[in-house]
Amino acid sequence: MAQTILALGSLMPKEMEALESHFSVIRLWKEKDPEAALQKYKNEITGIVSTWETPVSERLIAALPNLEIIGQCAVGIDNIDLKAAKARGIIVTNTPGVLTDDTADIALALILATARRIVEADMYVRVGKWLNGDMPLGTSVSGKTAGIIGMGRIGRAIAKRCEAFNMKIIYNSPHKKDVPYEYYKDLKVMAAACDFLVVACSGGAPTQNLVDYKVLESLGPKGIVVNIARGSVINENDLLIALRNKVIGGAGLDVYTKEPHVPEAMFSMDNVVLLPHVGSATHETRSKMSQLVVDNLLAHFSGQPLKTPVAA
Ligand code: GLV
Repeated sequence: MAQTILALGSLMPKEMEALESHFSVIRLWKEKDPEAALQKYKNEITGIVSTWETPVSERLIAALPNLEIIGQCAVGIDNIDLKAAKARGIIVTNTPGVLTDDTADIALALILATARRIVEADMYVRVGKWLNGDMPLGTSVSGKTAGIIGMGRIGRAIAKRCEAFNMKIIYNSPHKKDVPYEYYKDLKVMAAACDFLVVACSGGAPTQNLVDYKVLESLGPKGIVVNIARGSVINENDLLIALRNKVIGGAGLDVYTKEPHVPEAMFSMDNVVLLPHVGSATHETRSKMSQLVVDNLLAHFSGQPLKTPVAA
């Protein structure tokens, strides 16, 4: 009999079809009464498909006595209660690698959009302001210093792109990495030394509020902070105050603490560029992520090695 998979979010349509050709799939968001559906199928469910938008809580894990695997369709796994999964020996897989380039591209897009006022400039033309004169000047990107928080796959891909802009690259992470960039153990010191502070580390408890008011103060009134990682890494309240009081020059954000809710105060700020968590949002990458989820589930249930397990 086919294994039963609880899908908390959707994969791309083609990969969702593939999933359904191999497994019996419960699309929880389509259920009229999700709690009742969980009660009905709880003993049958052996796998979960999740995304960064769908919490996999201790309560959910505890409710599924035969759960074996959580196939996360994202590289970040801060939505999953890893401690609860580990305690039960439940396998977690994610989708690293396939989204690195797209996510790094978005970091560069945010650096450029914020410094060169791209969104504002587009609007300047559309609403006819150009007819009354040139728009205010922006800030150069080429030749500046990028301070990258997190030197994993995505951090390295961002650094590579920054190199093409003749930027100096410095980085902060818990440990020194084997990269040709200057390492800063102290984030505040790095923030003071860079023009663009780019958040590219994992989310979750260890990095919660890592970028606080003091770090933003060190970045200074000409500095720009970019976040393509998780909203939780920046203290959003501190960021709002820093932006409002021009303690920093601007922010380019793809992620927030309570997605899809973005602090309304940001809507009227002209020194921020706001994206709706689109780091991996391309047809190509979302298909590859979805396929990896299906492949991991298939590998697990056929006793093959997992493609991309999260280290236990
Ligand atoms: C998206 O945010 C991801 O973690 O893949």
